Amino acid sequence: MKNLVLIGMMGCGKSTCARLVGELAGVRSVDTDHLIQERTGMTVARIFAQHGEDYFRALETELCRELKNQSNLVIACGGGLPLREESIDLLKETGIVVYLNRPVEEIYRPEKLRNRPLARGGREDFFRKFEQRDPIYRAKADYIVDSEPIKTDTAAKVLAVWKNAASAL
Ligand code: S3P
Repeated sequence: MKNLVLIGMMGCGKSTCARLVGELAGVRSVDTDHLIQERTGMTVARIFAQHGEDYFRALETELCRELKNQSNLVIACGGGLPLREESIDLLKETGIVVYLNRPVEEIYRPEKLRNRPLARGGREDFFRKFEQRDPIYRAKADYIVDSEPIKTDTAAKVLAVWKNAASAL
């Protein structure tokens, strides 16, 4: 089966959703931020601070080149990964891309976003980033799934979309 590629704004719940879908489907789920942290031995915040955003985006692209060779995998993407078209297009080659859509008013919780270097610019900056990114997420998505108040409900919806899409191929 083609991979499931979850995209969306930082803090929208991609990682949890990927883990739950993986559990429900009995397949492996990965998170691009976690894999990069494992491989570099550095936190995302440290990579940004020491090497800058471009370097981090290049690590994401390198990882996508590798992940696209796998199948049956649930991939939670870092929120900025689709900003580099090359990265998301690599994952799209062998994956079904789902945009996890959640209202920005619900996502913006400064206390929960503390370890995200690009969420430290305050409310206005975060909302502006969302406005810039939402059309990119929509353009790259094969499907858009609205997030539900109960996380397992969201995961069940995403799983159904993935299965349907994969069986239609
Ligand atoms: C980023 C989102 C983060 C992480 C990094 C940059 C972004 O991932 O990759 O802090 O640009 O939106 P999450 O979406 O998992 O928070």
